[in-house]
Amino acid sequence: MNVEELKKAVAREALSFVEDDMVVGLGTGSTTSYFIRLLGKKVMEEELEVYGVPTSHQSRILAIESGIPIASLDEVDAIDIAVDGADEVDPDLNLIKGRGAALTMEKIIEYRAGTFLVLVDEGKLVERLGQKMPVPIEVIPAAWRAIAEELEVFNATAELRFAAKKDGPVVTDNGNFILDARFERIDDPLDMEIELNTIPGVVENGIFADIADVVLVGTPEGVKRLER
Ligand code: A5P
Repeated sequence: MNVEELKKAVAREALSFVEDDMVVGLGTGSTTSYFIRLLGKKVMEEELEVYGVPTSHQSRILAIESGIPIASLDEVDAIDIAVDGADEVDPDLNLIKGRGAALTMEKIIEYRAGTFLVLVDEGKLVERLGQKMPVPIEVIPAAWRAIAEELEVFNATAELRFAAKKDGPVVTDNGNFILDARFERIDDPLDMEIELNTIPGVVENGIFADIADVVLVGTPEGVKRLER
């Protein structure tokens, strides 16, 4: 089974968490894209009254194409469940997210969800956050260099993320830049998440400590379920 098949398998399994009349936070990224397409099919086939609250322009467009009625955060009373991918998951279900640069809206919506369901393939499981992936940090553009220097205090080296398909840096849906910060070690994810957000000019960072409720892990032996 290749990685794409594992992503599809967890996306299919995630459908069983969605019931009629739910408001569903729609994450961003390749795994969530499979989920959004499948959810659109389920909504139409079962004639469900489901609203999606997208975390990015990308997910908004895909939800519209998939036939999912959408609403913005300020139009809904509550979010029943949010479904999203992750870049790393540690044994306590702390996450690194943000390869898709949508981490700020993702965190806003997922923090508020009744259940936050995370979809990953087994290659995303790590012993300690930061082992494989940098921590994305969304910053106010004028502050990017100052913040990159400030991160040295945290024993991190940060790079401005450049876009693959345009000249210049990645610009987020909120008009900001992304720094990718590699840390020597992250011993306490929650503490680091809070500390990073105290740097002036940081909008949000990609450590999601203590908010995942359930993680579905795609493996060649089937989908495994991890819970806090
Ligand atoms: C988007 O900003 C990210 O948080 C994604 O959810 C995360 O990078 C996982 O993406 P993939 O499902 O594409 O691996």
